Amino acid sequence: MALMHGGQLQQVAEHYKIPMADWLDLSTGIAPTCYSIPNIPLNVWQQLPQQNPTLIAAAKQYYQCSQLVITNGSQAIIKALPGVYRQKNASSEDVYLPERGYKEHAHAWKMAGYNLHFYRNALPEITALSAGCVVVIINPNNPTGQYFNVNIIKQYHQQLKQLNGLLVLDEAFVDVMPAEQSYCQQVNDSHCLVLRSFGKFFGLAGIRIGFLVANNAWCKTFEALLGPWQVNGPAQTVAEQALCDTHWQEKQKQTLKQLSTAQENKLLQVFPNTLILAIKGCDLFLTVEFRQSDSAKKLYHLLCQQGVYCRLADEQDTLRFGITTADTLERLAIACAKACKQLS
Ligand SMILES: Cc1ncc(COP(=O)(O)O)c(C=O)c1O
Repeated sequence: MALMHGGQLQQVAEHYKIPMADWLDLSTGIAPTCYSIPNIPLNVWQQLPQQNPTLIAAAKQYYQCSQLVITNGSQAIIKALPGVYRQKNASSEDVYLPERGYKEHAHAWKMAGYNLHFYRNALPEITALSAGCVVVIINPNNPTGQYFNVNIIKQYHQQLKQLNGLLVLDEAFVDVMPAEQSYCQQVNDSHCLVLRSFGKFFGLAGIRIGFLVANNAWCKTFEALLGPWQVNGPAQTVAEQALCDTHWQEKQKQTLKQLSTAQENKLLQVFPNTLILAIKGCDLFLTVEFRQSDSAKKLYHLLCQQGVYCRLADEQDTLRFGITTADTLERLAIACAKACKQLS
């Protein structure tokens, strides 16, 4: 069965009988402001997509790495990796994953027959890792916002090298952080892979682009597996321009910081601290933790009744809000205040 994530507004709109156009959809961690779509020459639509060296060069520059593979979203790698790794390393059977985090990782490793071990706030004990194991770190994590610094990641990378294992770093949301907080630059052997997602920071999730940052052998493996037409030509044109546009990227970072700070302050004003424990996250989403675990589920429903769609955690105990623009922040605040009143 397919896992549920944010998005899928159509289903929610039907359920609550509110027309799609009337919703404030904050159910994903996709930036609310996006890179402008450039003019796309007709031949790009007409021809089959080709290997695009200028896009690859732009991506290497943006991600500060020497090798990468472009994919139809990082999800394509998440899904395929466990099966591929099983074949590469027959003795590998254990995977360590965050208990809370993008569930597609656990799903994919489970489907490949791995033993799943979940860690909570701290990474698994480094000395307890088994030979040939895999450690998945979502950095920063979605939805908790937890971030492990590069020095800690290096220690796990070294240990996994000793153990002939694999470190998988999912950096789908790292773009809003300073560039040196990404691990891409450190990828230099077959024991570490970094996944990057284009759609979130650039606000263009619909074009489905992601990257695998890996050593040459891993890149060759995935290029062969994914085949020639992974990413369509128009998407490649947009991504190339966006990845080169450092001026826009800087502005986007500032915009997201301003918007997320304003939204966090607003949420702290409207949710009484008798109700909430903390707000966590990053500049692409804010996750509200509650004192009583059933508050999240009730508030989710009360917000949906007002056409405000956020993400209720799979554990049903936190709410994750995507970042909204200044013009809709007040609508969010009013809806949250009303929902809090109805709750009490
Ligand atoms: C942590 C994380 N990783 C990866 C993905 C997949 O993103 P994409 O396939 O668009 O790159 C998501 C999607 O929401 C995510 O939350």
